[in-house]
Amino acid sequence: MLLEIKNLKVKYGNIEALHGISFTVDQGEIVTLIGANGAGKTTTLNTITRVPPPEGPKVWEGDILYKGQSILSMEPHEVVQKLKIALAPEGRHIFGNLSVEENLKLATYARTDEAKIQEDYKLVYRLFPRLYERRKQRSESLSGGEQQMLAVGRAIMTGANFLLLDEPSMGLAPLLMYEMFKALKELNQKEGMTILLIEQNAKLALEFAHRGYVLDTGEIVLSGSSQELLNSPEVKKAYLGG
Ligand SMILES: Nc1ncnc2c1ncn2[C@@H]1O[C@H](COP(=O)(O)OP(=O)(O)OP(=O)(O)O)[C@@H](O)[C@H]1O
Ligand SMILES: [Mg+2]
Repeated sequence: MLLEIKNLKVKYGNIEALHGISFTVDQGEIVTLIGANGAGKTTTLNTITRVPPPEGPKVWEGDILYKGQSILSMEPHEVVQKLKIALAPEGRHIFGNLSVEENLKLATYARTDEAKIQEDYKLVYRLFPRLYERRKQRSESLSGGEQQMLAVGRAIMTGANFLLLDEPSMGLAPLLMYEMFKALKELNQKEGMTILLIEQNAKLALEFAHRGYVLDTGEIVLSGSSQELLNSPEVKKAYLGG
């Protein structure tokens, strides 16, 4: 297993947000974690990327293994630079006063593999032609969907081979959503990118991922192949509108 989450319990102050969740992601997989508002999806990603308290959650039981080694003592920058795991965060966190190009460049600051960096720019612009068209534009003037693409582009530009995506479909019109997921699929199939996707849009996520887990108020209540979950009466009832 590439990533193994083992009985993870995390707290914000005294409040426990994850009550002992376990799941795995293997190399080359697209795995989705679906769940409603407040289920603990963002918390899970922020725990993996080691966002420190007070904003980040505090692990008080369980472990996170990457290639069999615990990463709980790692710093956020080590997760990106050493493990090559990058987060495209909820709410995007891009630099609005910088251009698209400058935002992408900033994400490469710790890299020295110049040739690969140039390839990655081409990759991002090929996946998201809109970003290429708008590369000189200030990011704050991009549409919400384009900003989402930029957040994913920045995660790619860190040199990651494992992407954590926090609701990339959020607020996107159907056409942009389709473009986003087509790009992500290509990234997985052609570039071998491993993807952990968290989503409220269960239908979309399960059509796209190989496997999934259902997170309900800090607990994993169901898991299976995407097809199994799409066919599951519980998932249909709670997440697919009957
Ligand atoms: N920084 C924080 N401090 C205190 N509590 C927090 C913090 N961040 C999240 N929580 C709480 O932890 C729980 C899980 O939140 P989380 O953001 O992980 O949910 P989510 O599944 O990502 O929801 P959404 O779909 O709305 O983004 C919620 O009850 C939330 O109020
Ligand atoms: Mg969230």
